[in-house]
Amino acid sequence: MDPDKSRVNRWIDNKTPGRGKAPPLQGTHRDERVLILGLETSCDETAAAVVENGCRILSNRISSQVRIHARYGGVVPEIASRCHLELINLLIEQALREAGLSGSQLSAVAVSYGPGLVGALLIGVSTAKALAYALRRPLIAVNHLEAHFYSNLFTGACIEFPAVGLLVSGGHTSLVYLPQPGKTILIGQTRDDAAGEAFDKVARVLGLGYPGGPAIDALASGKGPATLEFPRAYLEAESRFDFSFSGLKSAVINYIHNRKQKGEPVDLPDLAVSFQASVVEVLVEKTVLAAREKEAVSVLLGGGVAANSALRREMNRRLGEECPRVALYCPPSELCTDNAAMVAAAAYPLFLSQKFAPLDLNAFPNLELPGKDL
Ligand code: KG4
Ligand code: ZN
Repeated sequence: MDPDKSRVNRWIDNKTPGRGKAPPLQGTHRDERVLILGLETSCDETAAAVVENGCRILSNRISSQVRIHARYGGVVPEIASRCHLELINLLIEQALREAGLSGSQLSAVAVSYGPGLVGALLIGVSTAKALAYALRRPLIAVNHLEAHFYSNLFTGACIEFPAVGLLVSGGHTSLVYLPQPGKTILIGQTRDDAAGEAFDKVARVLGLGYPGGPAIDALASGKGPATLEFPRAYLEAESRFDFSFSGLKSAVINYIHNRKQKGEPVDLPDLAVSFQASVVEVLVEKTVLAAREKEAVSVLLGGGVAANSALRREMNRRLGEECPRVALYCPPSELCTDNAAMVAAAAYPLFLSQKFAPLDLNAFPNLELPGKDL
């Protein structure tokens, strides 16, 4: 059950010739089963999943606290921690049962150890440590941000490198360069609000509830073209891969308040289409620019906002027009938002290269993507 050197070498040697310069990233199908239990508690989803060989989901249990936090208009950290504590053991039991496994059949226990809410992360980290210790299995610490990109493997994709990744979630908007599997280099990020945060804040002002992204996406669906002109921040050349959404958010909120003050109605679908178009245009433009500059052969989307239908459509269209040789990977919609299957998948290459965490692992609420490189 313990990882051995030959297994590591076999995976690394498993190079298939492709367009990229590095071996592709994929799960492997083989007789020997690597069964990893993943845990996710970084924000408002409690999740446990078992994934085989980095790509096959045997179980994927998620309990979302969205309805609980909705009445406060956003995530309340103390409530999130308490909910994780109440549910995590139950979800682990369900995940194992659904996978038809006992704990002793697991190869390793993996957990998101950051970034996120410290109290929430600690529930997952403590549970994973206790389980790894009790089962005498390796503990694997996974960066939640990197894990989002691994949701792309559940489409059966064999991702070629070099790649560019766009992570768009409630807390982050980051562009990364992935020269090879397992190596992520941050090349740009938001200076203020994350894309998902802008969706959530605009939706809140419109009274659409939390989380706002899916509501705005649904309102905009099938409507258009956009008639309202909202700002797009492209920033100066040396910050060409950075983002800023606070100006756009303020412009939209001011527009809504102005209309209300004048007693004029707000055309909700038009506003949703116009706001969404501003966010999507900047995300797509910068991702296409990065793909060209880095000579990427793949573009990976990840994070909750990657479920946005306009983002997927526009990214596909622009890449098709400007970089037709670049393959676009979008995770299945239900795996764009936080889940534990992506944590177990991200742990697989770490398991094979025996990058295990010590049992005094701590939560890292401000964990970032590895180093900036332009
Ligand atoms: O990745 P995620 O589940 O949590 C974080 O790690 O932050 O992302 C949640 C974010 C929320 O801001 C939510 O509004 C946004 O993803 N989101 C969407 C859509 N679905 C979820 N934003 C735009 N369009 C969507 N369809
Ligand atoms: Zn996330």
